[in-house]
Amino acid sequence: MTGSSERRTFAIISHPDAGKTTLTEKLLLTGGAIHLAGEVKARGQARRARSDWMKIEQQRGISVTSSVMTFERTDADGNSIVFNLLDTPGHEDFSEDTYRTLTAVDSAIMVIDAAKGIEPQTRKLFEVCRLRSVPIITFVNKVDREGRDGFELLDEVADMLALDVCPMSWPVGMGGRFEGILDFASGKVARPEGPSKEFLGKREADAEIPEEWAEQSELARIGYPEFDIDAYRAGDLTPVYFGSALKNFGVTELIEAIAAFAPPPRPQPAEQGEITPALDEVSGFIFKVQANMDPQHRDRIAFMRMVSGTFRRGMKLTPSGLGKPIAVHSPILFFAQDRELADTAEPGDIIGIPNHGTLRVGDSLSEKNDIRFTGLPNFAPEILRRVVLRDPTKTKQLRKALDDLSEEGVIQVFYPELGGQWIVGVVGQLQLEVLVSRLAAEYKVEAGLEPAPFDTARWIRGEAGAIDEFERFNRANLAKDRDGDWVFMARSAWDVGYQQERNPDLSFSATKER
Ligand code: G4P
Repeated sequence: MTGSSERRTFAIISHPDAGKTTLTEKLLLTGGAIHLAGEVKARGQARRARSDWMKIEQQRGISVTSSVMTFERTDADGNSIVFNLLDTPGHEDFSEDTYRTLTAVDSAIMVIDAAKGIEPQTRKLFEVCRLRSVPIITFVNKVDREGRDGFELLDEVADMLALDVCPMSWPVGMGGRFEGILDFASGKVARPEGPSKEFLGKREADAEIPEEWAEQSELARIGYPEFDIDAYRAGDLTPVYFGSALKNFGVTELIEAIAAFAPPPRPQPAEQGEITPALDEVSGFIFKVQANMDPQHRDRIAFMRMVSGTFRRGMKLTPSGLGKPIAVHSPILFFAQDRELADTAEPGDIIGIPNHGTLRVGDSLSEKNDIRFTGLPNFAPEILRRVVLRDPTKTKQLRKALDDLSEEGVIQVFYPELGGQWIVGVVGQLQLEVLVSRLAAEYKVEAGLEPAPFDTARWIRGEAGAIDEFERFNRANLAKDRDGDWVFMARSAWDVGYQQERNPDLSFSATKER
């Protein structure tokens, strides 16, 4: 292995229950994943590397294996592609973590339930992808069940997300009459087999298709724009695959589509211009910090997305937030199957760096401490709560805890200019429960949460003079965030629009780039 193999770093976005977990499993099985939980078959160096992080997981109580899943494919010419699938925590623990993970991928698969179409969380996550023009491959799942009409689904994706759609395959029947998937490129039909009606590898060329479906598929093939890789990579067009994760339909096609179409690691915007993967110097940014599940330990794992260079174990990197180099001796390298690769990581790969809280989400790391990445946003919280301290002598502990937890990305914290009651912001309800229990368990702070008189927060940007002027009239609605940046606490969306109109020199932004 030369280490020059190509990378595809991607995530799956979906609404709960659409089938993300099932698809993830099938992608890993089909792709021959090496990091299945509990796997003990590793040998030699690979075993050492694996046990390294298993030890970390045990000692520190941090589960990292599922955060980054890696598999590799080698084509007939011996070229290999390494796939890094980053988990976006879904369900109730939907949080900023999920959003931020999307800043670390080069493309995404959007899974849609054929019976439900675009659901709210799919849409939210899609909007985050759109911020960075992340290209999307769509997978319409569960066609082995009765679902909605294929054309209706395609039109919904096109209309709701303002994307061109290009069907790449078409179901031959759905639900009880499901007879397989016609792949447009090869013209072959993947057929269900056996009592479970799974796809076991049988593909028919020149297949007999019931007339109704033959007509439909022909209409689908000619009725939409042709696949255009540039439009896809620009985030303007999504190729759409129909399938069933449960029954294994369309999974290989997805892997092949990612290999063939999804972009390799892209350049990342930085203060000094774009940093390309070809740069020799090692650089990357932290997109996620995972804290210990054992409250006795303050250890954390910071997840760094590699942007440039070839990382080697033991290398010194300087985090932008700190200024002092740290030696990365025991990183978690997720791609540890191969002897040589076990100690290196390439652009597009993720490294887990154990630390004691020095690394923050949004930090840039580089060998020479000369690279500052931009475009790693904080997202305006959708739920704001006032923190009420039960024991007023614990103010200092509370401040420390809120600072820590906001560094980790669990919450955002706002310190109002007037009044002593601090406000926390989250994007999902579960984060509030996590906050209260972690305050009690780790910081011995008993606190409650009350409704805040604000509905949303906006970061204020503009000339110092204009901000001063704004401050004079709006102190009751101003706060500072963890970094001391000005935030406008708005009572409603209307409030934001009103202030924007009155203060054309300022911008009121729903995201903040660090
Ligand atoms: P999520 O991670 O997006 O939340 O979805 P998950 O994969 O857990 O799937 C949600 C449910 O949908 C599961 O059923 C799963 O078996 C089912 N499912 C996923 N893909 C398909 C598919 O292609 N066809 C059909 N028919 N079902 C599919 P469950 O009953 O909620 O869970 P389980 O008891 O089967 O685990």
